[in-house]
Amino acid sequence: MSARPAARGRALVWTARLHARARRTFYTARKRKGVTLNTTHRHSGTRRSRWALAPLAVLGSALLTGCQQAQQSLSIGDMASAFNREIWVMSIWAIALSIIIFFGVSFALFYTVQKFREDKHDAPPAQFHGNNKLEVWLVAVPVVIVIFLSVLTVRSMAILNPTPDQATKIDILAKQFWWNFEYPEVKADAGGEVANGNEMLMPTRQPVALTVTSGDVIHGFWAPNIGGQRAAMPAVNKTWQVDTDRAGVYQGNCSQLCGASHANMRYKVIALDQARYDATLAAMKAYRAPEPAPGSPEELGYKLFMQGKPATDPKRPETGAASCAGCHRVQGTPAGGQVGPDLSFFGTRRTLGAGMWEGQKAEDMLIPWLKNSPAVKPGALMPPYENGAEYMVNGKPTKGYSLTDEEINAVAAYLRSLKLPEEADYWRDVPVIGASSNGGTQ
Ligand code: CUA
Repeated sequence: MSARPAARGRALVWTARLHARARRTFYTARKRKGVTLNTTHRHSGTRRSRWALAPLAVLGSALLTGCQQAQQSLSIGDMASAFNREIWVMSIWAIALSIIIFFGVSFALFYTVQKFREDKHDAPPAQFHGNNKLEVWLVAVPVVIVIFLSVLTVRSMAILNPTPDQATKIDILAKQFWWNFEYPEVKADAGGEVANGNEMLMPTRQPVALTVTSGDVIHGFWAPNIGGQRAAMPAVNKTWQVDTDRAGVYQGNCSQLCGASHANMRYKVIALDQARYDATLAAMKAYRAPEPAPGSPEELGYKLFMQGKPATDPKRPETGAASCAGCHRVQGTPAGGQVGPDLSFFGTRRTLGAGMWEGQKAEDMLIPWLKNSPAVKPGALMPPYENGAEYMVNGKPTKGYSLTDEEINAVAAYLRSLKLPEEADYWRDVPVIGASSNGGTQ
C-alpha cells in the first residue's frame, strides 16, 4: 500500500519540475528577445514533429487522389451551370462576411494584446462581468449574421429546388456499383422506356429534372459541373434540377461510401445541344437491337446472352452458364432483366464497369470483365463466367459459371454490335470537360 503514495509523490515532483522548466523557458525567451512570446523557441519541438509528419500527409493525399485513374476533374466552380452560378453568388456573400469577421476579430485581438500588455500595466485588469451592454452586442451581432446567412440560403433553395413541369425528366437508379438512367417521357417503339447504363444524356440550356433512388444501399449522385448532389436512398425518390449551358462530357462519381467499389461507381454526363439531344433520343426511341447474321460470332453471342448454356454436369450448375438476359435489358430483344444495367446501347458506350475504364482501356477490359468481373472490380455482383470461379454473394463464396474463350469472345462481339446508328453516337465531337492532358482516357 505504501507504493502508491510514493508513486504519487514522484509524479508530483515531476509535474512540478516540468512546470518550472516551462516557466524558465518562457521567461528566458521573453527576457532575451524583449517580446512577450518567442514562438520559435517554444515550439521548436512541435515544429520538428510537424515536419516529421509531412511525408505522412503526402502519402495520405496520394492515397486519396493518386490511386484513382486520373481522367476528368470535377468542379463546383463550373459557371456554365445556373445552379453553380446561384451557389457562387450565395458563397460570395458568405465568404465576404467570413473575411470581415476574421479581420475584425483578429484586429480586436491584436489591439487588445498590444494595448494592455502586462509590462505597461502593473495593476490587475479591469473586470467587466455583468456588462449588459457588451453582452447584448455579443449576442445580437452573431444572431444578425446567422439570420442573414439563413435568408441567403433559403432564397437560393427557393430558386433552385422547384423543378418546372416542362423540364426534361430523367430517372436515376443507383445500385452497387453502377447507375441506370431512364427517360420516362420516351417510350421505345420496341417497348419499355429508353434507358442507358452509366452514361447519362441531357439537353443543354434548360433545367433537367433528375429523380434519384437506390436499389440497395445509400449512394450519392454527384456531378458538380452540372449542379448539386443528392443522396440516392432505397424507397425514396428525390427530385431536383441541374443544368448546363455548355455541351460536353462531364464526370460524375458516387459520393456516398457504399461498399467495396464505391470509388469505381462512376458515370458520365453527356450534355448535348437541343437539336442533337432530340435527334439522339429519337434514334434511341426507334432503336431495335440488330439481328446477328446467321453463323456469325454475334449469333452465338446472342444465343448465349438470351439462353445461357446448359450445364455439362447437371448436378453442377457452374459447368454451364446463366443467361445475361436474366439480369440485363436489351431494347428490341426478349432480354428484359432489371437486375443489372441496361445494355441496349452497349456498343456506343465508351466506358466499362460504371466508368472504371474508358476509351481503349474499356475495349481491352471487356474480355477480362466478362470472364471474371469481381476479380477486376471488387464487389461486382456479376458472376464470373470462366472455370466456375468463385465470387462472394452476401458474404458467402459462390461458384460462377463456365464459358469457353470462344463463347466469351462471341458474347463480347454481340455486346459490341449493340450500337446506335453512327449519326446518333452521342460521344462524337463532344468536348471532354476537365480532361487531363492524356485526353481523359488514361
Ligand atoms: Cu455508390 Cu458509393
